[in-house]
Amino acid sequence: MAIDFGDPANRATYSGRAADASWRNAVTALVDPVGAVVVDIGCGGGTYTRAWQELGAARVVGVDSSEPILGSARQAHGALPGVEFVHGDATATGLPDGCADVVFERALVHHTPDLPAVAAEAFRLLKPGGTVLIQDRTADDVARPGTSTHPRGWFFEVFPRLLDVENRRRPEPAALESALAAAGFAELRTTPLWEVRRRYADREDYLAEIAARTGRSILHDLDDAELRHLVDALRDRLPEGSLEESDRWTLWTAHRPA
Ligand SMILES: C[S@@+](CC[C@H](N)C(=O)[O-])C[C@H]1O[C@@H](n2cnc3c(N)ncnc32)[C@H](O)[C@@H]1O
Repeated sequence: MAIDFGDPANRATYSGRAADASWRNAVTALVDPVGAVVVDIGCGGGTYTRAWQELGAARVVGVDSSEPILGSARQAHGALPGVEFVHGDATATGLPDGCADVVFERALVHHTPDLPAVAAEAFRLLKPGGTVLIQDRTADDVARPGTSTHPRGWFFEVFPRLLDVENRRRPEPAALESALAAAGFAELRTTPLWEVRRRYADREDYLAEIAARTGRSILHDLDDAELRHLVDALRDRLPEGSLEESDRWTLWTAHRPA
């Protein structure tokens, strides 16, 4: 069953993590955040809203359609100068035309089937010359095999049917790119990224997150017994001790023509 973002039980699922240097280095090579107005759509617990502010953005507006998740974002990051969180949909944020230098959407578009409407809203929000930056996993990214630094790949080895779920929901690059072009975007570029998601002092800290279905919506497609089996299978495959977890992503950037 797909994750219910509106369920208060899931309010903290995208909280408690900091954006890694691997992400910061990749995005600052694509866009200059210093002094920028950034709209972070599908901001979740605000991990990346905060990161944009720390990278020097003048103002960062986190937008999310889940009130409980926004509550966790406000609690953790709402007091930062220049940061605010507003309730809205990726297709209708309620923010003014031309208010942003950067529209950022991480791990959002595999939850939003209407890509043309999402792209059109990003275009509307951007100033001429502004940049949309979309971060998501393609089916190819998802299919990377499991390793001790990419244990997510093992989810699909243990439960191959999860790959079907991913293949149905992950954005088809051609569909996303044609939605961006149809919205008016130009200079489309794609960049692969291995992002360190989190570092864990001990394997068991990672396994506790998996057992709690934290921050990985695909785990909501397993029942409780299957989840316990996955945790055991991951423990068998992972070495004891500390763990650095990385995932493969694709970054799409495009510009609203000046
Ligand atoms: C996988 S989480 C990603 C959170 C955050 N961007 C991150 O990378 O940590 C997806 C987020 O998008 C939000 N979301 C899903 N559909 C949305 C929509 N149509 N409009 C706005 N937010 C949406 C969910 O509530 C959730 O917080």
